[in-house]
Amino acid sequence: MEDIIDAIKEIAHRIDEAIKMEDLGYSDSSNSSGEDQLKLDVQSDLIIENTFAKVKSIKNLVSEEKEGLHHLNDEGKYTICYDPLDGSSLVDVNLSVGSIFGIYEGELKGENLVASAYVVYGPRIEMLIASRDNKPILYCTRRNHFQKIGEVTLDQKGKLNAPGGTQMNWEVKHKTLIDSLFSEGYRLRYSGGMVPDLHQLLLKGGGLFSYPATSDTPNGKLRQLFEVIPFALMYEQAGGQAIDANGNRLMELIPSHPHDTSPCFFGSNYEIEALKKAYNITR
Ligand code: AHG
Ligand code: MN
Ligand code: MN
Repeated sequence: MEDIIDAIKEIAHRIDEAIKMEDLGYSDSSNSSGEDQLKLDVQSDLIIENTFAKVKSIKNLVSEEKEGLHHLNDEGKYTICYDPLDGSSLVDVNLSVGSIFGIYEGELKGENLVASAYVVYGPRIEMLIASRDNKPILYCTRRNHFQKIGEVTLDQKGKLNAPGGTQMNWEVKHKTLIDSLFSEGYRLRYSGGMVPDLHQLLLKGGGLFSYPATSDTPNGKLRQLFEVIPFALMYEQAGGQAIDANGNRLMELIPSHPHDTSPCFFGSNYEIEALKKAYNITR
């Protein structure tokens, strides 16, 4: 696993440089989710593919920006599912964006996630790594080198509310929940970038991040293999919860297609319990 983490550190520096130096325009292609691709989406994907190709323990790759499985090494052990540039539409307004990595062993489903990592490209490059047997570990760059900062833990109850999706397309029960948190004094913290939004909650003690089923995205928008499940591990290992609209753990998702999405809720225990009540989830 160390070889993969070292590769992710190299990827982080190379994508950060591309963000600062390269063209921010759109390419003439779209990805498997039908989204227009920025040249940076495509370039970040290439940087990741070329860097991981040197790592012998990686068998296959699945990318947000490509269809299907990309085979690397017959004797590899892991399949890495990744979002090369998350929130890429925010680059041209100079907001933070990220990369997300899910490291799976065997069939691509939640219970086979071995570890996850994400990188935040902001004023500094920061990275969080989670595995099943310890709390997420935060790394920050100082003078361009990653330094281990320490473990990340969510409080039982947070102060931040990050409501995703188009509000006019929310179900009534979801609107009631979000409004109830604001009436308790929660602060709105939502940039439209999953990585910086979930990173902020993790580092500021917690709250609720929600991307529900909406009338325009009935299965949610966020992709299971390389957005939802990697963050579910982060939040559970940090002492919080990560569930879908039926109260199932997102770590138990079994996608039928690599680009399947899921409604998703990540947060501290108090807020997730409030969500279960609003959604009449009794488990
Ligand atoms: P990506 O740029 O990889 O397609 O991801 C964008 C996602 C995610 O970063 C964010 O949480 C979500 O889009 C925001 O969607 P809305 O603008 O619909 O809230
Ligand atoms: Mn994304
Ligand atoms: Mn992306």
